[in-house]
Amino acid sequence: MRLLLIGFGNLGRGLARSILEGGKFKDLKVVGIVDERGGVLNDEGIELRQALEVAESEGSVAKMGIEGLSAVEAIRESDADLVVELTPTNIKTGEPGLTHIRTALETGKHVVTSNKGPLVIAFRELQKLASSKGVQFKYSATVGGAIPVISLARRLASGDEILGVRGVLNGTTNYILTRMEREGLSQDVVIREAQELGIAEKDPTLDIEGIDTACKLVILANSILDMDVKLSDVKITGISRISPEALKLAREAGYTIKLIGNADKKGLDVRPRLVPLDHPLNIGGTLNAVSFRLRYAREITISGFGAGPAETSSALLADIMEVLASSPAS
Ligand code: HSE
Repeated sequence: MRLLLIGFGNLGRGLARSILEGGKFKDLKVVGIVDERGGVLNDEGIELRQALEVAESEGSVAKMGIEGLSAVEAIRESDADLVVELTPTNIKTGEPGLTHIRTALETGKHVVTSNKGPLVIAFRELQKLASSKGVQFKYSATVGGAIPVISLARRLASGDEILGVRGVLNGTTNYILTRMEREGLSQDVVIREAQELGIAEKDPTLDIEGIDTACKLVILANSILDMDVKLSDVKITGISRISPEALKLAREAGYTIKLIGNADKKGLDVRPRLVPLDHPLNIGGTLNAVSFRLRYAREITISGFGAGPAETSSALLADIMEVLASSPAS
């Protein structure tokens, strides 16, 4: 299967490293890489080790190919089977990812993405476009990182009915709350450390104010609860008012405080909630956890690492391998 990578920052490079290291990915041939400054296209397959070296030393792969090559041109011109869209999330317009994904689907290419913006803005449109073109559109990496939240939900929905979903969907705020609770530290101190871990959004207020959690909740509601909702449908309260004292008081009463996203047919909200200390959603550090409420199975909770290049690669590759498995001819 021929892959075109759009975006070659931390996530794109992480994916390239995973493809290089994993022997089982030998059927994946990267025929194009485009970043902000340009790109490189080669039908015979790009030497990934060299691309990684050039990107690290020059800050762009353009030096290996064409300075100024745009992602849209590359998507149109490439004969790739699958476009992996990894540009930064923009939740206001979805761009540039939205145009990249539209162009890829319109030109009959499968799409795998970790970019939340286009899904938050245009979920139904993109899904319809993919099905009208007979191609696949996969986005497991947008919610829960390495945790197979969406594929587990699809399996659960086939034999049961998902009544609602809730969870800790943001690693940055969970890390901040955990450090505040365990060490009595103030939010300002821990926010900086969370940024150093490299999992916070470029603008960390998106994490702190609950927006990132709300975006993931919108994606979950649209994809697994069969709803048609937008970010403006979510009632959002972040963690900025949570103090170490509040966490201490909660703990004395047998609870912790977590930033929880909750979606069911009654609506969507994101807010700090008391969680019993022995509840499976009480996970520490940068972990995420998602709990499904089901008609028959009652409750199923899954947890794991929800952010970071290696974790995101794990989800992207699972999606890519699923596309490969369903298109044996390429
Ligand atoms: N800022 C996000 C988080 C990154 O902390 O969970 C993963 O979507």
